[in-house]
Amino acid sequence: MKRIVILASGSGSNAENIINYFKESPNVEVSAVLTNKHTAKVLERCDRLNIPGFYFNRAAFTNSDTVVQFIKGLEVDLIVLAGFLWKIPSNIIDAFPNKIINIHPALLPKYGGKGMYGEKVHQAVKDNLDPETGITIHYVNEHYDEGAIIFQAKTSISKEDDTATIAQKVHQLEYEHFPKVIEKLLL
Ligand code: GAR
Repeated sequence: MKRIVILASGSGSNAENIINYFKESPNVEVSAVLTNKHTAKVLERCDRLNIPGFYFNRAAFTNSDTVVQFIKGLEVDLIVLAGFLWKIPSNIIDAFPNKIINIHPALLPKYGGKGMYGEKVHQAVKDNLDPETGITIHYVNEHYDEGAIIFQAKTSISKEDDTATIAQKVHQLEYEHFPKVIEKLLL
């Protein structure tokens, strides 16, 4: 059995989608979800889905080995960032080489970097009148959104689309592809 841990900061709809995708899998198991926000909706989803959910604060994440030791204890094969907004510190990256992946709601290298998340990304795409956007799944290194790209998928957008519509289109791509890419990396 391959095991994954999911890190999420907010709603966690991708986390839920991944948990449901692997619910009956004989090969892959979601061991836990970690969040940096104790009010994050993802924790409610964990309760409902019977997946252990844990909160950690910035000190545990950035200034200590607490999170590294915790994840090591889970014995996971992959760490999946699904809407996780903090930069991953180098002690975590060094502890899990090529084992951390992220999903970004745009076609990197466009619209990446510090502060580019969620609605801000979709607003930038709209402001630039881009005819398309998409998702990027990539390995995580010490720079925001710069690790090697594993997978991208595109969707077209029209001038009438507002940021909520763009977000919805991007989420659809995420729900369709992210679990399958995770599965492919593991099996
Ligand atoms: C997702 O669209 C994900 O790509 C994005 O946050 C959203 C989280 O939604 N991540 C980033 O912007 C990272 N820079 P969710 O909490 O409903 O899964």
